[in-house]
Amino acid sequence: MAAPEEVVKRVEQLRELIHYHNYRYFTLDDPEISDAEYDQLMRELIRLEEAYPELVTPDSPTQRVGAAPLEAFKTVQHRTPMMSLSNAFDREELEAFDARVRKALGVDAVEYVAELKIDGVAVSLSYEEGRLVRGATRGDGERGEDVTQNLKTIASVPLRLLRPVTIDVRGEVYMPREAFEELNRRREAEGQPLFANPRNASAGSLRQLDPRITAERPLDIFCYGIGYLEIPSGAAPDGGAEAAGAAAGADTAGADRAGPAAGAGLGGTGAGPGPAGAGGARPATHKEALELLRELGFKVNPHWRLCRGIGEVIEYCRHWTEQRRSLPYEIDGVVVKVNRFDYQERLGVTAKSPRWAIAYKFPAEQVTTVVRDIVVNVGRTGAITPMAILDPVRVAGTTVSRATLHNEDYIRQKDIRIGDTVVIQKAGDIIPEVVRVVESQRTGAERPFEMPKACPACGGAVVRPEGEAVARCVNASCPAQLVEGIIHFASRDAMDIEGLGPALAAALVEKGLVSNVADLYSLTKEQLVQLERMGEKSASNLLAALEASKGRGLARVLYALGIRHVGEGTAAELAAHFGSMDALARASVDELTAVPDIGEKIARSIVEYFAEPRNLAVIEALKAAGVKMTEDAPPAGEGERPLEGKRFVITGTLSGMTRQEAEAAIKRLGGTTSGSVSRNTDYLVVGASPGSKLQKALDLGVPILDEEAFLKLIGAAGGEPDGGH
Ligand code: IVH
Repeated sequence: MAAPEEVVKRVEQLRELIHYHNYRYFTLDDPEISDAEYDQLMRELIRLEEAYPELVTPDSPTQRVGAAPLEAFKTVQHRTPMMSLSNAFDREELEAFDARVRKALGVDAVEYVAELKIDGVAVSLSYEEGRLVRGATRGDGERGEDVTQNLKTIASVPLRLLRPVTIDVRGEVYMPREAFEELNRRREAEGQPLFANPRNASAGSLRQLDPRITAERPLDIFCYGIGYLEIPSGAAPDGGAEAAGAAAGADTAGADRAGPAAGAGLGGTGAGPGPAGAGGARPATHKEALELLRELGFKVNPHWRLCRGIGEVIEYCRHWTEQRRSLPYEIDGVVVKVNRFDYQERLGVTAKSPRWAIAYKFPAEQVTTVVRDIVVNVGRTGAITPMAILDPVRVAGTTVSRATLHNEDYIRQKDIRIGDTVVIQKAGDIIPEVVRVVESQRTGAERPFEMPKACPACGGAVVRPEGEAVARCVNASCPAQLVEGIIHFASRDAMDIEGLGPALAAALVEKGLVSNVADLYSLTKEQLVQLERMGEKSASNLLAALEASKGRGLARVLYALGIRHVGEGTAAELAAHFGSMDALARASVDELTAVPDIGEKIARSIVEYFAEPRNLAVIEALKAAGVKMTEDAPPAGEGERPLEGKRFVITGTLSGMTRQEAEAAIKRLGGTTSGSVSRNTDYLVVGASPGSKLQKALDLGVPILDEEAFLKLIGAAGGEPDGGH
């Protein structure tokens, strides 16, 4: 049934109202109506759209979440490149920048806009006649990933602008600090890996293929630039739809495309309620561009300042170096931009960055705190790592209460003692480290650290071999090693057992339910539900995850076992070469070193591992539990790498093998696999229900293999793909 005209009208009216109130609430932080009134508008719209689904449009405020998960992101070409910035680390470098700018322009004084450098993820938002059509990550600057459906879930990203302009807007997606900490608390409780900082959390959230996950993440955005701007037809003085790319301070400042500063142009076509627009002239300065962005409905950071000369810029940088922690989000510097667009165009760009802007980067934040204690951690291989327990302090966005001290020698070199006041910082803004001791604060009551002679977890002997920095607990059944070993066994790149994180691993060992990784496979629901915070549902999920992990194949099992010096790559190499655990267990050092990339050290470690009866018992128990100990195809003979250098991408579901098995087969024969199609892809393997990769491959002319052709290729190339051992 076609929707009656009143309904069509009302739906449109509701959308305009909701867009406008979103803008008041999220962008201006100045709501005009109560939350309850807003909810009522939203409910009415949902009701009408449910009754008349044909009226739903992608820019309806009801459509922020709800798109189906993707298989992969599409690549999109930016209309104008997203450039990066060169950096300045101190006053002198800012003054040198100013001198360069003034010299190139031949002027005595230049106005700058100084604004905060938000520490998040750069994105570009594209609008056609005021409607959001695409959102993309920066990527390599020329092409990024199409993350439109994820960006739509961010409430402050306008789906519709207050004037019907065609525009590309550049901004930074970020996660407020408190929201980030709350997210990490939740992840910790769920046994999921933590994000190192709000920037990583933003990047991870934006790259979710399922927009429902992104929608749950507390993301926000600040917009800071225009990459492209078009005046709506009929509104420009000459009546034409004039594309004047760089005129609005496009990142490129491509002088050749700078259209004349077209006069009155933007808006004026009555795109619904909104602030009385300020004239609608094309911006001639960065300041005017920021004001225009705000008028169009974008969220612009309120802290920016028009500076008359570099002196004021330096003062602004100094202010924010001290005040950055007072903000509810992370900034890592101040961006300084020449205000006048005609100046920007004259200055132009270098290969990577514009000459009219620079990023002042804050120095790594250092704070002082007190070392309350030095404890040791026992790792998966028995390595004993000393750790400083600190009075909690905030540094670079998170609260730090421990810092690794690496090993005994490190502590001696820095002469770190228990009770010392120390300066700490975060290496790469992530890992807390002790920079130095503040010796002037010593009272004489500080105590030097002694490496324990016995393992704190099991009482076993601690041995530090001659010439090595690391001390180890040599007891193979040490519970602390076991907990770490289980965490590693279950990790994503190993057996990928979802839900089995550090807290659960510790509980299983403590309750005596697990004394080696094979015991995981005999856990019962009754045992699991007795654990704290483990309901029926989580227990069933865990059992299902354990069951699913049994088929991962030899390469993953080998890596999961945590044999010293056997990383993921080596494990794959070994699995491909030997094909089964039994064959590998029988291999001698000579046979092992004959495998490409396997040296003496790795070979010895493997032989030692299989010489230990306890390890063999675990492997037997895993086998008995049904864990697959073979790789799916027989090993290719030595030197048989017919797919050497060939790059494959797989899409859709193959009927005869899992994706992992197909990838393993390709790798075994010397090829590589990747998650996305590009010009460099040699073959796209297509299974049932392929995703967008197929279209991409067709567009790029990448050869396509169906399952049969693929089997033929790998069969002809290296043996039976389905053969077992
Ligand atoms: S302007 C050509 N302004 O910093 C100018 N960038 O290295 C392009 N960023 O990738 C950037 N806050 O992700 C600009 N207020 C701001 C910014 C900002 C954060 C990021 C942006 C860019 C990087 C520059």
